Amino acid sequence: MKLVHFTLVLVCVSFGVSRLPVTSGSVPRDLVDEKCLAEKHTHLSCNKVFCQPWQKCIGGTCICKLPYQCPKNGTAMCSTNGRTFSTYCQLKSFECLHPEARFLSSGPCTGKEFRVSLQHKGRDSEGHVQVKLVELEESMYICQDGWSLTQANVACRDLGYPLGAAQTLDTSSFPANSTECLHVSCRGIETSLAECTFTQRKPNAQGFAGVACYTDDTSAPAKGSFQCVNGKHISRRKACDGVNDCGDQSDELCCTGCQDNSFHCKSGICIPRQYRCNGELDCITGDDEADCDGEARPCQEKPDFLTPDMDAERQRIKSFLPTLSCGVKQSSPSRRKRVVGGSPAHKGDFPWQVAIRYGDSITCGGTYIGGCWILTAAHCVKVNKAHQYIVLASLIDWLKPNSELSVRYVNKVIIHENYNGTTYQNDIALIELKKPSKHKDCQMPETVPACIPWSPYLFQPNHKCIISGWGREKDNERVFSLKWGQVNLIHNCSNFYQRRYHEKEMVCAGTQDGSIDACKGDSGGPLVCQDVNNVTYLWGIVSWGENCGKPEFPGVYTKVANYFDWISQHVGRSLISQHNV
Ligand code: ARG
Repeated sequence: MKLVHFTLVLVCVSFGVSRLPVTSGSVPRDLVDEKCLAEKHTHLSCNKVFCQPWQKCIGGTCICKLPYQCPKNGTAMCSTNGRTFSTYCQLKSFECLHPEARFLSSGPCTGKEFRVSLQHKGRDSEGHVQVKLVELEESMYICQDGWSLTQANVACRDLGYPLGAAQTLDTSSFPANSTECLHVSCRGIETSLAECTFTQRKPNAQGFAGVACYTDDTSAPAKGSFQCVNGKHISRRKACDGVNDCGDQSDELCCTGCQDNSFHCKSGICIPRQYRCNGELDCITGDDEADCDGEARPCQEKPDFLTPDMDAERQRIKSFLPTLSCGVKQSSPSRRKRVVGGSPAHKGDFPWQVAIRYGDSITCGGTYIGGCWILTAAHCVKVNKAHQYIVLASLIDWLKPNSELSVRYVNKVIIHENYNGTTYQNDIALIELKKPSKHKDCQMPETVPACIPWSPYLFQPNHKCIISGWGREKDNERVFSLKWGQVNLIHNCSNFYQRRYHEKEMVCAGTQDGSIDACKGDSGGPLVCQDVNNVTYLWGIVSWGENCGKPEFPGVYTKVANYFDWISQHVGRSLISQHNV
C-alpha cells in the first residue's frame, strides 16, 4: 500500500431522500435516470429489488422457484384450479410456472367462488368494481376511500387486462343503493384481488371505487409521457413517486431522487414512505431499515379483516428462508474516533484478508469468501502451480507471525476463462483450499468471510471503502505488516484510463490527492465496502493501476458484483447468496 501523508478530503454526500412538492402548475425536476432506463429494469430485476420468496435470482432476473424449493412451514392454500397446496409459497411458485392457477383462498379448497366484475355503463373495460369474496355470500362494491392505482392495477389484472389500470374513476355520480362496501388494500404485486385484504365498511361520502383498465386503445398522456417496460404509457409525473403505476415497477427503478411521500433507496429506486422502518427490508442497500430508532414506527392497528392477510404471510415466509453469515466481524475491535487512512492493521480488523505465499515471499493478497474458497486476482496465480501456493489467514506481520495464524495448502486454482493478461479484463480467480484433514472443513479460527455483492447497485460513486494489503510503499519499500487505507469509489474512470477501463467489469477507487492507493504486492487483495448496517462486502479485487498513488491515475479493481454468477457456479449458490435463494 502506498501511503503518503494523509490529507482530509471533504466529499459532499447528498442524502437519499429528496422532498419535492409536485404541483400541477410547476414542472418538477426530472427524477428519472435515462441511462438506467435503457437497462429496462422491472420488478424482476434482482440487481434492483429483492425477488419474491417463491422466486430466486438467476443472472439478474427473478425466476420461479419449484414448489419443493419453498420453505415447508405454512398453512394450506387453495388455488383457482381447485388444487390445495400446503403453503402460500408453494401455491405462488406453482402459479409463477402456470399463471392460470391463481390464489383463491386460504385453507383447503371448499368449492366457494371468488369473482371480480365491472358494473359498466359505457366501455367494457371501465366501471365500478364488484367482488364476490369466498368469505361472503354476495357481491359487494369497493369503497372509494383507500382505492388507488395500486389496487386498481390488481383488479384489472384479475379481470384479464395484463397492463392493469389506466386510471381510477371518479364515481360521485354513482347512485348505489348499497349500504356497505368493502375496503381493500393491496401491495400491488398480487395477481388477483383475492390476495388483497378486505374489510367491510359503511360507505363514506366518497362513494364507490371505479376503474378504467388499460387496453390497446388507451391513449398515451398527451405530453410528458413515460413508457413502462411492459409497454404501458403513464404520465411522466407519476414516475419516481413510490407508487407502482406501471404494474411492473419500471417507473420506480431508475430514480435520482423521489417525489414527496416516497423514500429513495441508495440503489436508485423509490418505495412508498410507509415501507420505511416497517421491519421489512425493501431497499437492497438496506437503507429503508437503517437508523429506525428515532423514527416513530406507526403503531398499526390491524382492522378486522374479512380475508386473511396474505401480505403478512409473504413476510412470514421470508423469515423461513436460509440466512448467510458474512461480513460481520466477530468482535468489533478498538473503536476509532476518526478514520485515518494508511494505518497499520490490528488483529481482527480484516478477518477476511489472506496472504498468498509463493516461495519465500507474499506475492499477493486474497479474500476469504466462505467454505474452502479464496478470491484473488487472476494475474496472481497459475493453475499449474496450485500446489506451490500457501494461503495464510489471520496474518498481520510476517516477520513476527502471530499465534492465530492459519496455514493452508491449495487444492486447485480456477482462473476466469476470459481473463486477458494484456488488458487485465476479468482479472479474477478462485483458490480452493485443501482441507486440513479428511473429516475437517476449511473453517479457520478468527477468519470471517466477506460477503459477495450480488448487484452492481449496492454501492455508489463516492462511497468510502477500504483497501488492505502487504504491498509496497511509495518508494518501493518492502512492507512486512498489513496496512490499510480508505479510498473513495470513483465515477467515470474512463476519464483517467480511456479505453483501458471497462465500466461493467472494473471499478476505480482512490483519493483526490492519490495519497492512498494499492501498489505492487497488494494485488488480489480486497477493496471492501460497508453497507448501512455495517455488513462488509468485497466490492473489488486489487488489479492494476498506472504507477502507485498518482492522483491522475487511480487504482483499478475487478468489480466483484459482475462476477457473482461466475463465483456461485464454482463455489455453489448457497455459500454466497444472502438473498433471493
Ligand atoms: N498489479 C499490482 C500487483 O501485482 C497491483 C497494482 C495496483 N496498482 C495501483 N496503482 N492501484 O500487486
